[in-house]
Amino acid sequence: MNLLTIIGARPQFIKAAPFSEEFRKNNIEILVHTGQHYDANMSDVFFEELGIPKPDYNLGVGSGSHGKQTAKMLEGIEKIILNEKPDGLLVYGDTNSTLAGALAASKLHIPVYHVEAGLRSYNKLMPEEQNRILTDHISNILFCPTQTAVNNLSKEGITSGVINSGDIMFDAVLRNINISNEKYANGAWFDELIRDNGTLPKLNDKEYYLATIHRAENTDNPEKLFSIFKAFSELDKPVLIPLHPRTKKLIKDLNINFKNIVIIKPVGYLLMLYLTSNAYMVVTDSGGLQKEAYFLKTPCTTLRDQTEWVETLADEWNVLSHIDIEEIKIKAQRELACLQQSQPNSFGDGNATAKICEAIINGGQQNE
Ligand code: UD1
Ligand code: UDP
Repeated sequence: MNLLTIIGARPQFIKAAPFSEEFRKNNIEILVHTGQHYDANMSDVFFEELGIPKPDYNLGVGSGSHGKQTAKMLEGIEKIILNEKPDGLLVYGDTNSTLAGALAASKLHIPVYHVEAGLRSYNKLMPEEQNRILTDHISNILFCPTQTAVNNLSKEGITSGVINSGDIMFDAVLRNINISNEKYANGAWFDELIRDNGTLPKLNDKEYYLATIHRAENTDNPEKLFSIFKAFSELDKPVLIPLHPRTKKLIKDLNINFKNIVIIKPVGYLLMLYLTSNAYMVVTDSGGLQKEAYFLKTPCTTLRDQTEWVETLADEWNVLSHIDIEEIKIKAQRELACLQQSQPNSFGDGNATAKICEAIINGGQQNE
């Protein structure tokens, strides 16, 4: 089988790594990088450390408004489909690259396979929510990471082609956590941070918050961005932030004492896994990181009013916080009773990759 896979943003590289390895054992995959993320530490690092095959095409679309970025991708992907005539097209998640790939294929009557289907925040102001809804409604096989996602699709009348495969990001964590631990134990994690960022204040195991902020609803509102960083500056432990380039450009003028905040460049996935499992708590507006914190049994505070990953809220492993200085501080400094609780596994058995490959090859049927 000849499959065209579209990737373009950081979390898609991480999801593509296990899939490409498995699928290519017996099939042909043509990999298209839209170029949505292009800095070396937002793109190349993942290809190198996770062994993702070099893309067959890179559209090099770069940054831009939603319309411009999506339109450039759509045009580029359409040409590739016409040229390669694939049997199907695979997209991951909910970025502009996801929507562009799904739309280009659907219009040319090429079957669309959506990995991470069925997620909903029920906040249609989010670009990701728009991308997910539209992609799900034009997909032929929908791979849901959880039963909640299956139920969400059912509420919208999508029941055909829906498969609860489990979560491919859970597979990625299981595959890589031991490699990460071996590489970064005994302080090697901090040595690498200093190598890449210069002198940093000393951080001790389990005595720092790990934070990431990049969601448009937080970064593009100056008052919200101020409140987030103000709260970070007043937390009871240092806050380590591998800063997304989007946010880096926007925090320059914030009138805040950054003494408690340790800003570093974005890091590779293996180091990120280590920083996550070694943190006292994760504070984030990322989708993927909320889950990784949960998988690695690190408590999380999510700086959003909704989460698509509702399973992580059980026993307060993850707690949502409105963007308000005092609320963020209270939630982040809460008592961590969750650490005494066991976790139900709602994200599959770590074999999502194999199930997705099998179903694509069998045209939507799962072997029992
Ligand atoms: C995108 C996705 C978001 C996902 C995130 C993963 C959309 C609408 N959003 O958000 O769902 O969670 O990726 O990280 O698709 N930039 C650089 N270098 C890069 C990439 C981006 O400097 O390599 C800067 C540019 O100023 C750009 C801004 O970051 O305008 C935003 O990038 P963009 O890809 O549009 O959105 P993300 O915020 O990364
Ligand atoms: N991540 C990473 N390095 C970083 C920040 C995040 O490898 O400096 C990983 C993180 O572990 C997770 C993924 O990137 O696997 C999440 O991507 P992001 O937060 O950019 O997007 P989202 O999941 O919100 O779409």
